[in-house]
Amino acid sequence: MNSDIQVNIPNKESHYSIHINQEPIENLKNTILDFLGEQNYLVVISKKVYKLYGKSLNFDSNKILIINDGEKEKNIYNYLKIIDRLEKENLTRKSYLIAIGGGVIGDMAGFAASTYRRGIGLIQVPTTLLSCVDSSVGGKVAINTKKSKNMVGSFYQPSAVFINLNFLNTLDEKQFKSGLGEVLKYAFIEKSCMNVIDYKFFDFLNVNAEKIIARDFNFLDKIIRISLALKVAVVTKDEKESGLRKILNFGHTYGHALEEITDFSAFTHGEAVIYGMYFIFNYAHRLQLIDANYKEKAFSFIDKFGFKDKPNMFNKDKIIKYMYSDKKVDNEKIKVIVPVAPGFVKEMDFDSIKAFK
Ligand SMILES: NC(=O)c1ccc[n+]([C@@H]2O[C@H](COP(=O)([O-])OP(=O)(O)OC[C@H]3O[C@@H](n4cnc5c(N)ncnc54)[C@H](O)[C@@H]3O)[C@@H](O)[C@H]2O)c1
Repeated sequence: MNSDIQVNIPNKESHYSIHINQEPIENLKNTILDFLGEQNYLVVISKKVYKLYGKSLNFDSNKILIINDGEKEKNIYNYLKIIDRLEKENLTRKSYLIAIGGGVIGDMAGFAASTYRRGIGLIQVPTTLLSCVDSSVGGKVAINTKKSKNMVGSFYQPSAVFINLNFLNTLDEKQFKSGLGEVLKYAFIEKSCMNVIDYKFFDFLNVNAEKIIARDFNFLDKIIRISLALKVAVVTKDEKESGLRKILNFGHTYGHALEEITDFSAFTHGEAVIYGMYFIFNYAHRLQLIDANYKEKAFSFIDKFGFKDKPNMFNKDKIIKYMYSDKKVDNEKIKVIVPVAPGFVKEMDFDSIKAFK
């Protein structure tokens, strides 16, 4: 598969392409600059990615802003640093911000692009598996506050997304598995995404786990395309998460609580989502929404990718407290996305008494 993925957000002028290839990274700059035409730009790039790929990317040093790595850097100070630089370079509304890095850079630079002069062009160049399959597409951009993750943000679609599989070669094991966390999520929600094509993603991943773990590019290409096709099917029907898009939060309510309890230092995002999925499968089984057979099948599928459930990791009151602090809590009720059948999920109120028996 070589074709681009098209994203058309209805009722908006937001139509963009996701380009996926395995060309040498040295080609990327020209591909992006061809897309920009004559327009001015600023590159915002993660320090680590700059160290690894700065030379190959070869952007002019006066067009680059380097940002330190880590979730804690997705903050107001770095956001302001980006805004100051955009202003200093006199970038206009026709200019572009090019975000090169994982979800931290993509979310924060995206938020800066969405607010500077009420919105300039945004090019996403995701360099982690997680940002390829999830954060670079769909338009959620944000920064964290001292207290909460993604508390300040907006919905802002990129002008284009350029995915180059070569970046994934240098991801460490932990970050690669983090991306797999979000990929596996799509296997459990595929049918609820209401995509026209049935990819039978669960079976595909199950059969090809070894090749995927070995980072065989043909298989990485395929899982990125399928994950994105499913995400696009959802966000084009519900850009602002008033309904269907909530299913993308499968595994996330508990996952976010784990990330916050541990001050974002113990788990990667995708790993926290994996534990969130173990949790919600146990919960759904306890509520008899699914049978033991589906739960066991789901667990052995997740385990195949090198994960293991760690039940009762934290005190339940602490977890519930953090689940309540999630910004998606409605009228004091925690809503969760639960599995109800292979590929199908639904939203329901969370019953904390039944969850932690
Ligand atoms: N906007 C959305 O819809 C959405 C969806 C999911 C997650 N997110 C956000 O994404 C963030 C997590 O993204 P992430 O997992 O990409 O984390 P990240 O951006 O922190 O990147 C993880 C680490 O990998 C390094 N890295 C990046 N590319 C590399 C490469 N090619 N080789 C080697 N190392 C590389 C980074 O420097 C960093 O140290 C969170 O802030 C989360 O809230 C947003």
